[in-house]
Amino acid sequence: MESSVISSATGSISKLCSFIILLLFFFSCSTFTCTEAYDALDPTGNITIKWDVISWTPDGYVAVVTMYNFQQYRHIQAPGWTLGWTWAKKEVIWNMMGGQTTEQGDCSKFKGNIPHCCKKDPTVVDLLPGTPYNQQIANCCKGGVMNSWVQDPANAASSFQVSVGAAGTTNKTVRLPRNFTLKAPGPGYTCGPAKIVKPTKFVTPDKRRITQAMMTWNVTCTYSQFLAQKTPTCCVSLSSFYNDTIVSCPTCACGCQNNMTEPGSCVSETSPYLASAVSGPGKASNAPLLQCTSHMCPVRIHWHVKLNYKEYWRVKITITNFNYRMNYTQWNLVVQHPNFDNLTQLFSFNYKSLTPYAGLNDTAMLWGVKFYNDLLSEAGPLGNVQSELLFRKDASTFTFEKGWAFPRRIYFNGDNCVMPPPDAYPWLPNTGFRPAMSLLQPVMTILASIVFLWAYL
Ligand SMILES: *[C@@H]1O[C@H](CO)[C@@H](O)[C@H](O)[C@H]1NC(C)=O
Ligand SMILES: *[C@@H]1O[C@H](CO)[C@@H](O)[C@H](O)[C@H]1NC(C)=O
Ligand SMILES: *[C@@H]1O[C@H](CO)[C@@H](O)[C@H](O)[C@H]1NC(C)=O
Ligand SMILES: *[C@@H]1O[C@H](CO)[C@@H](O)[C@H](O)[C@H]1NC(C)=O
Ligand SMILES: *[C@@H]1O[C@H](CO)[C@@H](O)[C@H](O)[C@H]1NC(C)=O
Ligand SMILES: *[C@@H]1O[C@H](CO)[C@@H](O)[C@H](O)[C@H]1NC(C)=O
Ligand SMILES: *[C@@H]1O[C@H](CO)[C@@H](O)[C@H](O)[C@H]1NC(C)=O
Ligand SMILES: *[C@@H]1O[C@H](CO)[C@@H](O)[C@H](O)[C@H]1NC(C)=O
Ligand SMILES: *[C@@H]1O[C@H](CO)[C@@H](O)[C@H](O)[C@H]1NC(C)=O
Repeated sequence: MESSVISSATGSISKLCSFIILLLFFFSCSTFTCTEAYDALDPTGNITIKWDVISWTPDGYVAVVTMYNFQQYRHIQAPGWTLGWTWAKKEVIWNMMGGQTTEQGDCSKFKGNIPHCCKKDPTVVDLLPGTPYNQQIANCCKGGVMNSWVQDPANAASSFQVSVGAAGTTNKTVRLPRNFTLKAPGPGYTCGPAKIVKPTKFVTPDKRRITQAMMTWNVTCTYSQFLAQKTPTCCVSLSSFYNDTIVSCPTCACGCQNNMTEPGSCVSETSPYLASAVSGPGKASNAPLLQCTSHMCPVRIHWHVKLNYKEYWRVKITITNFNYRMNYTQWNLVVQHPNFDNLTQLFSFNYKSLTPYAGLNDTAMLWGVKFYNDLLSEAGPLGNVQSELLFRKDASTFTFEKGWAFPRRIYFNGDNCVMPPPDAYPWLPNTGFRPAMSLLQPVMTILASIVFLWAYL
């Protein structure tokens, strides 16, 4: 009797939790930058690192380590991932295929055969494309680039092989490596402990035989924008055919121009020194060099409500790069707008609807067409990509009033973009609209946070 009461109570708490997540998602995240580690649009997103012990050796084992990027829209672009861990005992790496450690460490006590790495906490990077075939394994050698699960699942994994010495030689004596760190290449990911799982089964290419790993363990890493960087990386500007006002990105959305403390932190588009600044100090390290703007974001997404037909309406999206030292390969956008439940046509971008929760169908992922606009070039005349979306009107919800036609939220490459405040949105002529939200919103946010904290406790 009592347990059924408890279970129904926990049931309603978990329902309450998902409701609160939705609340937070609509109220908190639409105005303020999302800082929680948890990504409401990709709740199970993670990178799983799987170690398969393929064979035992006289003093240890050979393992194939594979990283799977199970994130819907977050990818790892050049210069790629680095993976580190701490050995539990005095293990060494005799050799590696498809990857290498960045430092060998002190192998002075070895005579004859010298290990590939003797460090207690090795750091591994992927090999570059063009590595000789005899050093490759499947899924290796892409310079540490991993695509997102939605965009290109075939390229969402990365593998290397290690042969480990001074380790256990049975599944009872092997000690799992600890303290995994994944950099992409900066901070942002947090990895859990390694957990022994059912040994992986491998099917031979002719599908006539199944082999299995001696032993397998998994590590799960999750991303948090908050850990990754303190400042936002993109912002949103808005315009419409029915109002001449262009609502630009909020001033200082990603940083402020500051000539006093950081001269040369940005360079004007028309500066005669542009070329020398781009190739100047910082070029080797790929330190960002931004075009001077009021928002100082490396990327801006512009949403223009372009046309109104009887049964349809049309939006033009333009993504502009303001970083002179960055080509964004395999870029993607995640856009939330209520009309994404009925997108009729999309020109020159790929599209997939995301449904992180049942019943939530207002979110879509957009990305470039291969070899056409999947590369967002460095700042300059070529530094933009654009597309148009055609939505079918649903008579019960469609309106140009109250900023309905503008997106609720946009992510670029998985990072939340700064939106203009709702009361700045372009108005329809002759409507005295003042968003009632502006007062309600902080109240709801505070309320939601209190309930959220309470639910956590
Ligand atoms: C990682 O992602 C996969 C695929 O979405 C999912 O099945 C798995 O449960 C996730 N793992 C964790 C620990 O969230
Ligand atoms: C080790 O192998 C034995 C038999 O092969 C198996 O029963 C046991 O579960 C394995 N232990 C671990 C930790 O994998
Ligand atoms: C590894 O993690 C443990 C806790 O999980 C910590 O106590 C230890 O200091 C860490 N070691 C290193 C080398 O980071
Ligand atoms: C371990 O990782 C592999 C590959 O991502 C996955 O298929 C498997 O389900 C995971 N096992 C567990 C118990 O999470
Ligand atoms: C920064 O300095 C440049 C020239 O040194 C000047 O053109 C620009 O207006 C200054 N910007 C601000 C915001 O003061
Ligand atoms: C971006 O790509 C173009 C064309 O491939 C290349 O010329 C340029 O050097 C690249 N820029 C950076 C910063 O990698
Ligand atoms: C979406 O639009 C199609 C026609 O383009 C229509 O048949 C369908 O009923 C619409 N679906 C919803 C959920 O409005
Ligand atoms: C989208 O979700 C809404 C409310 O959850 C539902 O009424 C609508 O039918 C859904 N549309 C589609 C196309 O699934
Ligand atoms: C256009 O929208 C702005 C708000 O961004 C408003 O101040 C202005 O009055 C609107 N213009 C017209 C013609 O309604």
